[in-house]
Amino acid sequence: MKYSRLLFLFLVPLLMMGCKKDKNNPGYNYMGKHDMYYTKFYKAYSPNPLLPNGMTNQMPAEGAVARGKMPFPYKGSTITDRAQNQSLAGLELANPITSNDAIVQEGKEQFRIFCSNCHGLQARGDGNLYTSKLFPAKPTSLVESYVQNKPDGEIYYVITMGSISGLMGPHGSQITPENRWKIIHYLRHLAK
Ligand code: HEC
Repeated sequence: MKYSRLLFLFLVPLLMMGCKKDKNNPGYNYMGKHDMYYTKFYKAYSPNPLLPNGMTNQMPAEGAVARGKMPFPYKGSTITDRAQNQSLAGLELANPITSNDAIVQEGKEQFRIFCSNCHGLQARGDGNLYTSKLFPAKPTSLVESYVQNKPDGEIYYVITMGSISGLMGPHGSQITPENRWKIIHYLRHLAK
């Protein structure tokens, strides 16, 4: 009994020493001298002696795809390369978006913003820029079989990279991948 009271007298101050009012100071702790409470770390852009290339921030693994980004490995500068890549895109790419009325409507809006100036509101190749003679090259009709017989991936290639001849410029930087596929749904809908 006597001893337990003595023990109590010791324990309470000892426990209270662990608490401090200063929120920026964690007080005493036993594990502090090990790495367990205060982990050593390297900042993202600091050199790092532990990794083979000496950098803390590592490159993404080869072939990694960023969230929300669709890979597009079909570039190429010469006409032969571009023609090859266009047919490859036609074979390998499939429209990832399922068509419905709302999607067709969104595709229509995008078409009106980015394509109708040249190709015309009904995509017959008679847009304002061409009929007013401001743009000299005849835009292809997109509702006829020459374009409609192309697989979606080839049309996607043309929107992204421009036409093989270069007469139509690339739209890859202006139109998101989703919207390119929606435009294609709209073109299929128009041709029906
Ligand atoms: C500045 C005018 C212009 C704009 C804007 C434009 N096009 Fe074109 N497009 C053309 C011309 C000119 C051609 C014919 C080019 C050729 O034969 O090389 C063409 C050809 C095409 C072709 C056929 C390519 C082929 O393989 O023969 C497709 C498909 C096409 N355009 C789709 C589109 C779509 C979809 C848009 C909107 C995202 C668009 N174009 C925007 C001018 C334009």
